[in-house]
Amino acid sequence: MYLLAIETSCDETSAAVLDGPSSILSNIVLSQDAIHAPYGGVVPELASRHHLESITWVVEEALEQAKVRLPLLDVFAVTQGPGLIGSLLVGLSFAKSLAYYFRKPLLGIDHLEAHIQAAVLEKAGVDYPALAAVVSGGHTSAYLLEQELDFRLLGRTRDDAAGEALDKVAKFLGLGYPGGPVIERMAGGGNPRAFAFPSPQMSDRSLDFSFSGLKTAALRWIREEGLAADHPRLPDFLASFEQAVARIILENIARAVALHCPRTLLLSGGVARNKRLRTEFEAFAREQGLGFFMPSPKLCTDNAGMVGALAWKRYERRGGGELDLRMNAYPRFIVPTEQLRRKKAR
Ligand code: KG4
Ligand code: ZN
Repeated sequence: MYLLAIETSCDETSAAVLDGPSSILSNIVLSQDAIHAPYGGVVPELASRHHLESITWVVEEALEQAKVRLPLLDVFAVTQGPGLIGSLLVGLSFAKSLAYYFRKPLLGIDHLEAHIQAAVLEKAGVDYPALAAVVSGGHTSAYLLEQELDFRLLGRTRDDAAGEALDKVAKFLGLGYPGGPVIERMAGGGNPRAFAFPSPQMSDRSLDFSFSGLKTAALRWIREEGLAADHPRLPDFLASFEQAVARIILENIARAVALHCPRTLLLSGGVARNKRLRTEFEAFAREQGLGFFMPSPKLCTDNAGMVGALAWKRYERRGGGELDLRMNAYPRFIVPTEQLRRKKAR
């Protein structure tokens, strides 16, 4: 069986061909970073226009690299949401047209659940329940998976996402876009204890995240110290800021672990490329005696391979799929499918 997956939720146009749940034959990712860099963030209208220009040849390239022709595809999958609505609609309409023309099933996939799947597709042996942290530019959330594919949201950010905080601070300092990789590079050699940052104060029961306090504190330091791209203390500041982002995520994840007693910890999303975060999560999992899984760096940021991997699992689980032409894109987070099903059953 061959599956074609398409991902256009934000500013990456991506297509992948799979011939198994962990067997990605091709995974083409066309980044629009250079297009959005002058603005210091993603411009939604530009993103959808560029998806429209690129989608055809990105899909063609994915097919060519996988050496699979369109009529040989058995299943189509596409990111349904959350994401930028214009961007999502380009991928969704393209996937719908292909599935309709070839009379094949189309599966709509949740972007955040696909990020989580990326953490478990390269290595077997996940012991459930698993606690998953998804840390990206648009989202920072914690999920509990009692078993495979059973995604239950525990908490999410009430304001900025972790990646958004990194991107905004980099923009404020004029360091470029996306901010996460630039900050990581420039923080190298800096002292992570040089600048103090607060932790958000949440009520005891909430597992929500918050990064707006951190961002405000960062902007205050920048103003007070007159920090700029060429300031000698910049590496110290960036290392401290990067460390604070990791600490805030991990503090909340530690509370979630204490509450839900998982056997495994998963880390995914674009910010999971960050070495400091990867090392800290790994050390925490070891200390807690938890299994630990995270994607290799190229599968952390948005890519259609992870969408295809989740779609394949769902297709297998359901014993097939159908083409629903009424399927629509959703811009905001929605309650995970399984969580909703369980709620209804209660
Ligand atoms: O998952 P992703 O590709 O897109 C969303 O779904 O949001 O994540 C993009 C985010 C951006 O905020 C970017 O700055 C961040 O991931 N990022 C990083 C690194 N590489 C990408 N953050 C920290 N360190 C990195 N090396
Ligand atoms: Zn993403």
